[in-house]
Amino acid sequence: MEKKDEILDHGQDYDGIKEYDNPLPRWFLLMFYGSILFSFAYMAYYTAKTWSIADASGRSANLAWSGARVAAEVREAESGHANFVPPEGDALLSFVRSPGNISRGEALFKANCVACHGENGQGVVGPNLTDRFWIHGGKPEEVLLSIAQGWPGNGMPAWGASQGPEKVHWLTAYVMSLRGRSVSNPKAPQGIEE
Ligand code: HEC
Repeated sequence: MEKKDEILDHGQDYDGIKEYDNPLPRWFLLMFYGSILFSFAYMAYYTAKTWSIADASGRSANLAWSGARVAAEVREAESGHANFVPPEGDALLSFVRSPGNISRGEALFKANCVACHGENGQGVVGPNLTDRFWIHGGKPEEVLLSIAQGWPGNGMPAWGASQGPEKVHWLTAYVMSLRGRSVSNPKAPQGIEE
């Protein structure tokens, strides 16, 4: 009988199950010890920056750095306006005049408002937003209020909850920029001239 076919004797019978005393195959042992060695190298590589040992390559290794980035992205995804402080008074005026805010608002307007206010704000079911007539007032604060809380009883949905404060402000910037724009087929004036 060869050594490797020796049957171990545990001095007891386990339902007739026998155990050979064979060494583990070499390929298995290599993988086993290899993966242990690999784990040290791996950990050293991916934590080097955190322990400020070395490395400026910006690899994903940098736990401190990637942790901060993930936190920032989560914050942004959760709210989209985490750091947004609603501007008031003069700050609101300059906010609504900023070309960047106007074009951000334009994209939102095209996506949400054109069905009722027309492609160019000329008015369909909703009133013309390009004329000087306003049902609920045309000052930035008033337009902001119309958009944020809506006039649900009159067919104007509220956008504050679904869009959040920052986007409502962008929309206000765009609506304010529509005034005086010449459009084809403007809807007849509604409300009071301002
Ligand atoms: C389902 C149709 C509908 C949609 C969509 C809609 N509106 Fe309106 N909107 C109206 C109606 C109707 C009124 C008039 C409400 C009233 O008579 O009190 C109105 C009024 C307004 C007013 C006040 C106008 C005034 O004369 O005082 C503003 C500002 C306004 N909408 C902006 C928007 C913006 C911005 C969006 C997109 C985010 C939007 N609306 C989407 C129907 C809509």
